[in-house]
Amino acid sequence: MTYTLDQFCADAHDAMEKNSGNAGRNAIRGHLEKLLINQDFVTEHLASQGSGKTLLYHDKDFDFYVMAHGTDAGNRKGKPHDHGASWAVYGQAIGLTNMTVWNRTDDRNQEGHAELAEDNTFPLNPGKAALFDTGVIHSTAHPEPARWVRVTGTNLDTIERHAYDPDRQVMKLMTPT
Ligand SMILES: [Fe+2]
Repeated sequence: MTYTLDQFCADAHDAMEKNSGNAGRNAIRGHLEKLLINQDFVTEHLASQGSGKTLLYHDKDFDFYVMAHGTDAGNRKGKPHDHGASWAVYGQAIGLTNMTVWNRTDDRNQEGHAELAEDNTFPLNPGKAALFDTGVIHSTAHPEPARWVRVTGTNLDTIERHAYDPDRQVMKLMTPT
């Protein structure tokens, strides 16, 4: 049986109902990998996605969002950022995302100052999903046009979160995109 978007949204809802912490978020990551191998889903919702994002589902009980994202630009490298009080699951549909996880190494006592050290970088290939739990800082790089699904614990455009510049050792509030 083909695993559909509706089935994924229902399973993600159930996962949150059972455990809204790390275990539930990891279960969503696993369910998303099942959805990403459904080529009809990828064709319908990702291949048609241009640069930008489209809402696929919002869960009214648990407030998580499922969005289709895309970029047509090659060699696109994002700034390190956190997801504020939220978490995020990224699942690759088309192309590649190079993910880098960063550790914050300063004492957090100086306003606007942040020191980051690169922890690890890994490729997220089609069919694969990764969880970035609350507090994790990561950056994304797209060497070629790409399409992906992002599930977030709430609407990231309405919460306070930060972008980081590791070279200049500064952080600033992100404005909604
Ligand atoms: Fe992110």
